[in-house]
Amino acid sequence: MRSNLVKKIGWTLLIALVAIQFYRPELNTAEPGHLDVFLEETNPPEEVREILSGACYDCHSNQTTYPWYSQVAPVSYWLADHIDHGKGNLNFSEWSGYPADRKDHKLEEIVEEVKSGEMPLNSYTWAHSEARLSETERQALVAWADRTRALYTLNARPE
Ligand code: HEC
Repeated sequence: MRSNLVKKIGWTLLIALVAIQFYRPELNTAEPGHLDVFLEETNPPEEVREILSGACYDCHSNQTTYPWYSQVAPVSYWLADHIDHGKGNLNFSEWSGYPADRKDHKLEEIVEEVKSGEMPLNSYTWAHSEARLSETERQALVAWADRTRALYTLNARPE
């Protein structure tokens, strides 16, 4: 009796898991060059470029690199939600559309989030060990963001 019930539950779960695979969230993919404006304006040194692409762009740009398991529902839903949320707060691919004071503010938040260890998200570094930042990497990222703010604070100043 009991094992029958367990079997039934098992089959139901399996069928549900297969069924949700047919509903795929839209993938986050962009044309090449989507980061050109951001990179040209803020001119990050090579080390910082690598940190940004290895640890931030997946959730903060229009292009995510998807590992195989991220395509499997329900992980795919969970991830799509993170990307939506991350991009809504900060999207490097849309840098050209931000006014100077917003750019300045985003860089200020990068400093805060990275210093406090909030970013990149733990749930991400758990699966992407290469995105775990060393102290030196954190400092390089923070130094670049801090320095680049000057560019926008100066520009934002009224004539
Ligand atoms: C797995 C996805 C993910 C990764 C990777 C990630 N973030 Fe985030 N980020 C988010 C989400 C989601 C938010 C929205 C706030 C929250 O829910 O914590 C956020 C918020 C932020 C904010 C706050 C923006 C605002 O206006 O409030 C900054 C700044 C930020 N992230 C910077 C970074 C940097 C820099 C990196 C790389 C070192 C990074 N993030 C990596 C998902 C991510």
